[in-house]
Amino acid sequence: MNKNAIRIVSTSTVRESVGEDSVQPEASDSFVSSPQVEQVTQRALAYLVAGYPVHFCGVAGTGKTTMAFHVASKLGRPVTLIHGDDEFGSSDLVGKDSGYRKNKVVDNYIHSVLKTEEEMKHLWVDNRLTTACERGEVFIYDEFNRSRPEANNALLSVLSEGILNLPKLRRSGKGYMAVHSEFRAIFTSNPEEYAGVHKTQDALMDRLITIQLDHYDRDTEIMIVMKKSGLPLLDSERIVDIVRELRSFGVNNNRPTIRAGIAIGRILASQDRRAHWDDVFFQMICRDVLATDTAKITRGGQPVIMQKVEEVIRKFCGSIHPVREKVKEDRQ
Ligand SMILES: Nc1ncnc2c1ncn2[C@@H]1O[C@H](COP(=O)(O)OP(=O)(O)OP(=O)(O)O)[C@@H](O)[C@H]1O
Ligand SMILES: [Mg+2]
Repeated sequence: MNKNAIRIVSTSTVRESVGEDSVQPEASDSFVSSPQVEQVTQRALAYLVAGYPVHFCGVAGTGKTTMAFHVASKLGRPVTLIHGDDEFGSSDLVGKDSGYRKNKVVDNYIHSVLKTEEEMKHLWVDNRLTTACERGEVFIYDEFNRSRPEANNALLSVLSEGILNLPKLRRSGKGYMAVHSEFRAIFTSNPEEYAGVHKTQDALMDRLITIQLDHYDRDTEIMIVMKKSGLPLLDSERIVDIVRELRSFGVNNNRPTIRAGIAIGRILASQDRRAHWDDVFFQMICRDVLATDTAKITRGGQPVIMQKVEEVIRKFCGSIHPVREKVKEDRQ
């Protein structure tokens, strides 16, 4: 090497900010606000306004995700959404290294002196929790217990001390980030016995205010089916009664849910049909949508749920003939 060579090396860390990644939720025309919905909304808002994170917990189809967005929209802040995932590590929440950028300047202006300056930039890209904490957004963590508990550890100091710990940025003096005063967090989860969910660490549960959601009451379900399908009241009532009756048998893990009711309503409306006992198409939609995996339980070679669906249609739609015979007739 040239004996007059001068080499200057400097290293620094650059946090790359991501572009606009949040959404601004708006009230949907098909959102139903019943006394039950209003009451839960008011409670959740009271906790959030006081600075506490809210957690909606309940079985599938109880309106957790819808409620999280509804409550978030009332806060009037941008919303960042993530969905729990078994593959997540902490970097999926806070961010990660994204390599190095190296600049080299070679200066040989004075012939006998070779001066090189190297600048190494260690790049870091923020992930959604970090940007939400920095910008004071509403952070919705849907189905957070699908992530492994250790992936969610960064939330502990965010929720109790208002500090996001970024240990990998320690050397650049940015290892701790103060959480914006308007940052709020809403969590949803399915119960622990559900497939694909993890047990949550007590420390995280202890920081959340949990609102247990059950299926909506009958009136709310009827309004939801009416609004989402456009069917008249009578048809929506029949559909909801059928769904609720089958759910009450308790053999199918709290199903069918309101989703099944909405599906039947929408399909009927799109075909310009009604929920009538003598409409074979209606019966068939009910069988397809409602007879889910309980088909495992059989009686006389036929899945019990099929028989139940028929009985229940007859009960709520006033059939005077056995539905199965009617279906057979129409097939011929
Ligand atoms: N207040 C409401 N107004 C109108 N539709 C609603 C309302 N609440 C829930 N729904 C509808 O009910 C269905 C189930 O709601 P949602 O997806 O929020 O349930 P969930 O508890 O998050 O279910 P999962 O555990 O399966 O994710 C959706 O189709 C949703 O649009
Ligand atoms: Mg959901």
